[in-house]
Amino acid sequence: MPTNPSSALSALGRRTTEPAISWLMKMALEHPKLISLAAGFTDNATLPVAETLDLAREVLEHARSGQSALQYGATAGDPTLRELTAKRLHRIDTGKTLRTLPPTHAPERVLISHGSQQLLYILIEALCDPGDIVLVEDPTYFVFLGILQSRGVQARGIRMTDDGIDLDHLETVLGELKRSGDLPRVKLLYLVSYFQNPTGITTSLARKRAALKLLRQHERAARHPLYLLEDAAYRELRFAGDDVPSALTCDAEDRVLYTSTYSKPFATGIRVGFGLLPEPVLSTVRRIKGNHDFGTANFLQQLLARAIASGAYDRHLKTLSERYARKSGAMMHAIQRHFPGNVLCRTPRGGLSVWARAPRSLRTGMHSAFCKSALEHDVLYVPGELCYADDPTRRKPNHEMRLSFGSAGEADIRKGLERLGALLQEALG
Ligand SMILES: Cc1ncc(COP(=O)(O)O)c(C=O)c1O
Repeated sequence: MPTNPSSALSALGRRTTEPAISWLMKMALEHPKLISLAAGFTDNATLPVAETLDLAREVLEHARSGQSALQYGATAGDPTLRELTAKRLHRIDTGKTLRTLPPTHAPERVLISHGSQQLLYILIEALCDPGDIVLVEDPTYFVFLGILQSRGVQARGIRMTDDGIDLDHLETVLGELKRSGDLPRVKLLYLVSYFQNPTGITTSLARKRAALKLLRQHERAARHPLYLLEDAAYRELRFAGDDVPSALTCDAEDRVLYTSTYSKPFATGIRVGFGLLPEPVLSTVRRIKGNHDFGTANFLQQLLARAIASGAYDRHLKTLSERYARKSGAMMHAIQRHFPGNVLCRTPRGGLSVWARAPRSLRTGMHSAFCKSALEHDVLYVPGELCYADDPTRRKPNHEMRLSFGSAGEADIRKGLERLGALLQEALG
């Protein structure tokens, strides 16, 4: 009897569908002249080549530092980088430089990971079983939705306001889950709280505090802690306005799981992320990471530790902020010039993208005539539908686009939006 080759796959292996990113990359390969406003890449021209060469020289110049950097390191990460990370985050959060940090920002709570993506994955492994529920912003970071799908975890969407998560809707959904007896399956609320991917919205501290309070009020019915997972991946890519303190600053109960990254604000090829986690999540994640890779590449961590300690990292942030302010300005200018007035876009204050909302009559999904036509005109965007969870309680919106100004140059941004604008004018006539 012929055997089905897939029959050896695990339940997870069988369940995992093709990530949206594969489709986006395939489109880019099939259309070599494509202007990609979809790529989540950072700007090549900003990558700190000369600075990294200097840092690498410093690390490798002496046998002692070179040998230690080229050796395996600790699972939780390089102690110097963990300490620098904790101090820096505390300073950004509070404006204070303290010798002894409060427990929420203690270096012992820092875990260094291979990009923050790895940490997001391990956190779901550590906290969720198949059939569990994670509350996400509606829309949210589509790669995170992929993790949930693969691990058999359901996502429930919480609507957003211009100021972050819609607290009334959060309360309604928590109430519904309580009444249906499903609250014990809920483990966390995931917020991309700074210049959210995809909408660009930043969540105010008041909303983070109120969300924590609501979660706390439902813990008795859930019969376990309900965590707030704050993903601050874009926090340092700010080019306008003031920073907002993280949820760690109002976490009296050890319910905040904070993740962020050095990859976008420094070099995406130096894929180092970090998290600040309370117990027992911290030890659990560290053990699982021990099984994954028993530690993030030591050499890369040492480069970053030196970049932070020497001030090269902060200088680089300044360059990024000027560059992305210019590119986002070019994008908004082209949108105002070429898009019909009924396609709504919010002017970004940080991050890498603009969220464009067309009237509902226009379908922008992967298989829509509009998306095909954009590809025929060599323009690619991220279809908004990819950023929405498969939530059975509402119809998945399909009339939005994420337009990134990260990797495309200014001339391509202008050209791409002129083409997209012409197609929008035609479609919305
Ligand atoms: C919201 C968000 N979180 C996390 C990540 C992961 O980034 P990295 O693994 O490079 O830290 C990304 C990458 O695009 C992202 O958009």
